[in-house]
Amino acid sequence: MSHLLADRKPVVAVLTVGDAKRLFRGNKANLKDIVNTGTDLDFPVYVVTAKDLKLTAKRVRGYQYLAEEKTWYRHWFPLPDVVYNRVPLREDERKPSVRKKIEECIRHNSIQIYNPFFFNKRKLFEWLRKNRSTKALVPATKRMSGPQNLYAMLQIYERLYLKPESGKAGKGIMLLQYEPEQDKPFRLTIQGRKYRNIVYRTDRLNALWRRIKSETANAPYIMQEGIQLVSYKDRIFDLRVLVQKTGKGVWMVTGVGARLAGLKRITTHVPQGGSIESPEKLLNPVFGSEMTTIIMNRLKSNAVLIAKQIEKGSGHLLGEMSMDLGIDTNGDMWFFEANSKPMKFDEPQIRKKSLDRIFQYSQYLFQHPKN
Ligand SMILES: Nc1ncnc2c1ncn2[C@@H]1O[C@H](COP(=O)(O)OP(=O)(O)O)[C@@H](O)[C@H]1O
Ligand SMILES: [Mg+2]
Repeated sequence: MSHLLADRKPVVAVLTVGDAKRLFRGNKANLKDIVNTGTDLDFPVYVVTAKDLKLTAKRVRGYQYLAEEKTWYRHWFPLPDVVYNRVPLREDERKPSVRKKIEECIRHNSIQIYNPFFFNKRKLFEWLRKNRSTKALVPATKRMSGPQNLYAMLQIYERLYLKPESGKAGKGIMLLQYEPEQDKPFRLTIQGRKYRNIVYRTDRLNALWRRIKSETANAPYIMQEGIQLVSYKDRIFDLRVLVQKTGKGVWMVTGVGARLAGLKRITTHVPQGGSIESPEKLLNPVFGSEMTTIIMNRLKSNAVLIAKQIEKGSGHLLGEMSMDLGIDTNGDMWFFEANSKPMKFDEPQIRKKSLDRIFQYSQYLFQHPKN
């Protein structure tokens, strides 16, 4: 480690894309917190759009937040040492110009970019199946390709979650159940807007498939073994874990939150009627305090194993991710997804730590140059 570098703070650029109406895209409150945290810690930090980040220029146009005037202002900044990718939408990140810029950062001889891309849901499961300890945590998952492969999987598991490969916030998720004793054994629950579920029943596979197709609008979907999640007052819940690299460059759990589903909902998202709770409050009544402590510890060590394996699988430098993990009625743990653009955690102690870690890890990267 060079002592000269240790004395200087890296220039950190938070990457997003431009927006005609509102300067740039992304959760402004989040970006504001990030920039303010960096500034408080004496890091030169700014928000930059993929278009403005010209890697061959001497300086780039970026944005900083002016607290007194409550506005973002545009200014010239030095080229970054570290780029933290917060492009908020998959559609934007997929655009050739944005992709190209990210790839230029990856190949650059000194700039370090972390979390360069969104994860694809199906790939995550492929990566996690390649390691014995993470393999045990993933529900059986396959690409949904037609009525025959759906039917075959339904015969094995009886409950399947159908999810878009590039989904978020519970959009497009369906629960398919097979109840052989019923006249209409196929039961499809579609998570409608806000607090409504649509339940479709049929005894014909073809009709079921047509109904599913009309929901998926030809987007690629995965079908996944449905886990019987534990519940609290008849509502299912799961856990959101934030895992980040520290100032030492190692993965650690920053915090764990719980999300309690709305009544009869099939996912736990807050926009789908869910609420934020403390994990212990929900786990204690089901498992007792001793077992709850064991589960929480297991959860943290599993989350770190998962993060390492995802980073390895992705082949890119990662610095943080959030994960959705579920606990079933036997106390076993399951991985549902990981997100490379974690939403901000509203739990105050998690929030503060998560912001600090972005910069602690940036400092680590700066002290460990490429090659
Ligand atoms: N295989 C499954 N079994 C049981 N519940 C699931 C399963 N997959 C997803 N869920 C529930 O749905 C939620 C959303 O699933 P997730 O894959 O995270 O999609 P999204 O990207 O929309 O957040 C999970 O947090 C969990 O509550
Ligand atoms: Mg999720």
